[in-house]
Amino acid sequence: MKELMQVITSLPELRKIRSHLAEPVGLVPTMGYLHEGHLSLIRKARQECASVIVSIFVNPTQFAPNEDLRRYPRDLAHDLQLLKQERVDIVWNPSPEIMYPTGYQTWVTVEELTQTLEGKMRPTHFRGVTTVVSKLFNATQPQRAYFGQKDAQQALVVRRMTQDLNFPIEIIVCPTQREADGLAMSSRNVYLNPAERQAATVLSRALFRAQGAYEQGERNAQTLRDLMLSVLKTEPLANVQYVSCAKIEDLREWEGKIQGTALLSLAVFVGQTHLIDNVVVGGSL
Ligand code: PAF
Repeated sequence: MKELMQVITSLPELRKIRSHLAEPVGLVPTMGYLHEGHLSLIRKARQECASVIVSIFVNPTQFAPNEDLRRYPRDLAHDLQLLKQERVDIVWNPSPEIMYPTGYQTWVTVEELTQTLEGKMRPTHFRGVTTVVSKLFNATQPQRAYFGQKDAQQALVVRRMTQDLNFPIEIIVCPTQREADGLAMSSRNVYLNPAERQAATVLSRALFRAQGAYEQGERNAQTLRDLMLSVLKTEPLANVQYVSCAKIEDLREWEGKIQGTALLSLAVFVGQTHLIDNVVVGGSL
């Protein structure tokens, strides 16, 4: 009989139990408040790996002071219930004091890929992500780690970091999970009131319009950006931060004709809630 899921909050205990896990070990890093998007990553890990670790840690260093750390949604009891059903082996649920001991001053930074898109809007965000993900890698020593395409720039930044720091870990990016009306699943969707929830469908509608045009043969990057913008502008509750048609290699904007893989992405405030979404055309992540 397989042992029951263990919820671990101490680093020495994690190391001890990790050393006895069957390999390959798959890690799914999360900030909790799990939804179908997370579960799809966990199911993929369960299929591909002998053991699955899920981390739950709301990482303070990836939130700017003006962002939503304090009100970020949390429901550990419900998360654990879901994880048990998915036959997860270990839940790593450290405290902020373990992850960031007093006097903490060490950071992991990916310098260029973080200058555009979300990194431009949120200058300290990716430094927090890459720092915490390296600490999670270090603590759990996985062979594979699973990330969602919804945060495409995060996945690319983590992959770059993994290569640069020689972590022997394969980064696997899984498709965005969507609600029936197209809205990309996100823990932040819970902030939306009913009118905003309805308005939030404009993100995927804008992306799908541009993707449709690409599939019909449109290759001009500016035309695709304009198409996305024209759909977003029809929604009065949407406050656009950016629309982008970027090269997948460096996340710089395509100028003129797209000649390779493009990440079509956008960031929009719907009310007070920051939402992002993307599709990839002409290739994959
Ligand atoms: O995508 C997330 O939930 C977070 O950015 C991650 C990867 C768990 C790091 O805190």
